[in-house]
Amino acid sequence: MESTVPAVLIPEEKILSRVAELARRISEDYAGVEELVLVGVLRGCYIFLADLSRRLTIPRRIDFIALASYGMTGTVPGAVRLIMDLRTDIAGKHVLIVEDIVDTGDTLQYLLGALRSRGPASLKTCALLRKPERLRTEVRIDYLGFDIPDLWVVGYGLDYGDRNRALPYIGVVETGE
Ligand code: IMP
Ligand code: MG
Repeated sequence: MESTVPAVLIPEEKILSRVAELARRISEDYAGVEELVLVGVLRGCYIFLADLSRRLTIPRRIDFIALASYGMTGTVPGAVRLIMDLRTDIAGKHVLIVEDIVDTGDTLQYLLGALRSRGPASLKTCALLRKPERLRTEVRIDYLGFDIPDLWVVGYGLDYGDRNRALPYIGVVETGE
């Protein structure tokens, strides 16, 4: 059983100041918009979305969506399915997808297609982390926290086998791969 404490990759203070900066930019960019719909991608987004949404100064609504990959090790590259849908009808609304981490880009790519077909007024993306070395699709991230190396990270909502989500910092774990 894994019991070691994950090594710090991004300390808590650095995450929080970056989240505040992202919230400031988003609030500026959407100033004057009637309402922004934040779509959190469960489950990894929950802490990031909580901190980000509390720092926005614009009217906003929070909703969630949950997705799962078909083959965990990519037997069917890019195959993603919806396991829980939004409650909000996003037609004509300004929508911002909030993701914890963009790895291959498959999840975000799928979500952009799925949500775009519902006719939002605008659709943008926000991710706390991205692993540029792992990307296999061109996917635009409008608001990005940090680029990180190809490592498995946990904490601040992210997990490895459902462990370490509540760590206050982003840490690295050995996955044995
Ligand atoms: P993608 O579809 O390959 O971009 O993967 C996206 C999802 O895989 C993320 O939203 C996470 O849920 C999960 N994921 C990818 N890399 C990590 C990691 O390093 N730590 C925790 N979860 C990860
Ligand atoms: Mg995610």
